[in-house]
Amino acid sequence: MENRIRELKAQIESEAAKIASLDELKEVRFKYLSKNGAIPALMKQLGSLSKEERPAAGKVINEFKVWATELFDESEKDLASKALLKRYEDEAIDVTMPSKTRKAGHLHPVTLVRNELIDAFTGMGFTVFEGPEIDDDFHNFTALNVSADHPARDKQDTFYINDDLLLRTHTSTGQIRALETMEPPFKIISPGRVFRCDDDGTHAPMFHQMEGLVIDKNLSLCDLQGLLDTLAKTVFDKNTKTRFRPSFFPFTEPSVEVDVTCCECHGAGCNLCKGTGWIEILGGGVVNRKVIENCGLDADVYSGLAFGTGLDRIAMLKYGVNNIHLLYDGDVRISDQFRK
Ligand code: PHE
Repeated sequence: MENRIRELKAQIESEAAKIASLDELKEVRFKYLSKNGAIPALMKQLGSLSKEERPAAGKVINEFKVWATELFDESEKDLASKALLKRYEDEAIDVTMPSKTRKAGHLHPVTLVRNELIDAFTGMGFTVFEGPEIDDDFHNFTALNVSADHPARDKQDTFYINDDLLLRTHTSTGQIRALETMEPPFKIISPGRVFRCDDDGTHAPMFHQMEGLVIDKNLSLCDLQGLLDTLAKTVFDKNTKTRFRPSFFPFTEPSVEVDVTCCECHGAGCNLCKGTGWIEILGGGVVNRKVIENCGLDADVYSGLAFGTGLDRIAMLKYGVNNIHLLYDGDVRISDQFRK
């Protein structure tokens, strides 16, 4: 019995020294200590010993079993801490490594102007009404009292899709679409893309406008002045002043062109305003009664105010962009400057 124990002890020691993982340890532990393992097998042999020999032999086997259990427990602790260390090493993060930066996107200057205006006008009870970019001759011209021989209808200014359909040349189409579908009184703004065959430093074939339309009873040019004053102060600054100049649009009567004090020199006169101190930013007026009638409303009951402004033009003035194409070339060096 003692020989067998000595033999097993040597065997366990040499095997334990070679164990490299917790799984291997489990196997070795099983081989010696499980129910049918080598050490319980020794216990079973006790029966073949004499009554006198049994207690001493039982004690020796028990001590051997405790020794083996402690050896395996020790080895397990050792392996577990080594495994943990290895995990720490594998998962180590080098905090001194340069980080990967990811640039956040930002809004286009025209979108910034558009959002500012939407905020200001919805604050005054206007709703946003978006019309289609492809519209027909009726909504873009006829209903707006643009006569059949008006030069704006010329194929050189308008992108026609066929004899009737076209890419809208202004957001004034929104006036007609709103009058057709909304119950007066109402106040809408209609921002969106518009298209004209025009291409130079200050004109692009696609640009943006925002239309405003108020339909109610007894509206006058004074009401329009108040609205447009707010518009100018919103996009430029609180000290911006507006002035109306008489003008002509087929869909408004009377019609005005609206200037604001130059955002660069504040009225003193500079290159941007060509020395006048004023810059034109929009057109507007009292809605022509023919337009109201064209949309089936009684022009003796309802009156309207309308205005239209170029969002690209405002963005260019506001941010000092001197060529409209810079807004649309997609050069990130330009758009990066509008990070807010
Ligand atoms: N639609 C006109 C333009 O494109 C602007 C305008 C809108 C004028 C509303 C008067 C009223 O120039």
